[in-house]
Amino acid sequence: MSNIQNMIKGIKGVKDILPEETHLWRLVEETARGWAVRFGFQEIRVPIFEVTTLFARSIGSSTDIVEKEMYTFADRDGASLTLRPEGTAGTVRAYIEHNLAADPLPQKYFYVGPMFRHERPQAGRLRQFHQFGVESLGMADPRADVELIALLWRILTDLTLPALTLEINNLGYAADREAYRPELVAYLKQVEEKLCGNCRRRLETNPLRILDCKVPGCREVTESAPILADSLSKEAHTYFTEVEAGLTAIRIPYQRNHRLVRGLDYYGLTTFEVTSTSLGAQNAVGAGGRYDGLVEILGGPPTPAIGFALGLERTVTLLPRALLPSSSAAFEVYVAAFGDRGSEAGFLVLDELRLAGIKAVSDFRSGALKTHLRQADRLRCRFALLIGDDEVAKGFCILRNMQTKAQFEISLSSLSQQILPHIQEP
Ligand code: HAM
Repeated sequence: MSNIQNMIKGIKGVKDILPEETHLWRLVEETARGWAVRFGFQEIRVPIFEVTTLFARSIGSSTDIVEKEMYTFADRDGASLTLRPEGTAGTVRAYIEHNLAADPLPQKYFYVGPMFRHERPQAGRLRQFHQFGVESLGMADPRADVELIALLWRILTDLTLPALTLEINNLGYAADREAYRPELVAYLKQVEEKLCGNCRRRLETNPLRILDCKVPGCREVTESAPILADSLSKEAHTYFTEVEAGLTAIRIPYQRNHRLVRGLDYYGLTTFEVTSTSLGAQNAVGAGGRYDGLVEILGGPPTPAIGFALGLERTVTLLPRALLPSSSAAFEVYVAAFGDRGSEAGFLVLDELRLAGIKAVSDFRSGALKTHLRQADRLRCRFALLIGDDEVAKGFCILRNMQTKAQFEISLSSLSQQILPHIQEP
């Protein structure tokens, strides 16, 4: 009996992914990988923790992530380290550190793995969650933006996720945002008392973020706020028009959302987000944008870049279950060994079958034939191999087709050769 009081539980907002679900994860990851490779992206694996300054400098010190959500701790030598809240910063750090800019080709990476943010856990919002992310470095061309958005859209539609909407926005260049900021702040100051506490603080630190606050009161007052699109330079406008034309040309449906600001400071020009109405309040499946200044901010050469990350928990939640194969893989052979000599021989047979490439299992707790056969059924095995003391004495065992109940004598001396033809039958 388990002792509940002594039981150690997992951390709030940190989920186990059990075998009944892992096949869904594999499907999502393999689909995403497959598309990324087809689009010319290569896998990169960067560490799960980095020095804290990397994230503070990349994501922005006045963002929610850096201010409130990072898992930061002192290493034994006193260095401040942080569990990565996202994958862009680490990827760009690796790009600079390994001088990948020296390669004449544009650098296109993808990664998959856990990210950590100390947010209030709720459906679709975890403290350890997983992202499939891509980063495309080196191209300041609207077609690179279209290519990236297309990759996200192809992955999601290939997975047949329901009720998806792609929203895009143009954040312009830094100078455009600087020009817009006082205008926005002046407007917001007039309605300050209607803003949530968080947004009142953001008024000083990060006013653009107020535009995509989800609190109803804030949404209402920002409805009539001046929009950034009216302050954009001609260059920013032209760039974005080409992104829109590209999306239309390859028939990717999108909507313009003037409020889409995103919670990370490194973005400029194109930003985008895919949401699904089949999710709850946390409805963003994947999101990203252009971050042309980040490589330089982190000490690298001027390098235009764009990327996105797909939230894997939310993607798995949206997968239509009806289309999916069942989780429990069927095994070919269940070894039902009983009696002393039978059990001994059965253990060797199990190894022999596996070495011959056959998926074989047994349950070492069972001694009786009846229990073994019940387990073989539960594990959806096609065959059971019966070996008792008598069979060992005679030098053979019995192969039983679990569906038809037909039985065949198989010599123990040439077991795998004799079993293979049965297994290969459809
Ligand atoms: P993000 O919008 O912070 O962007 O996260 C991307 C996606 O990760 C979200 O749309 C959501 O699906 C998922 N996600 C974020 N936080 C959580 C959470 N607490 N629980 C579950 N899922 C979550 C980024 O992280 C950027 N690095 C994307 C990017 C790459 N931009 C350029 N390159």
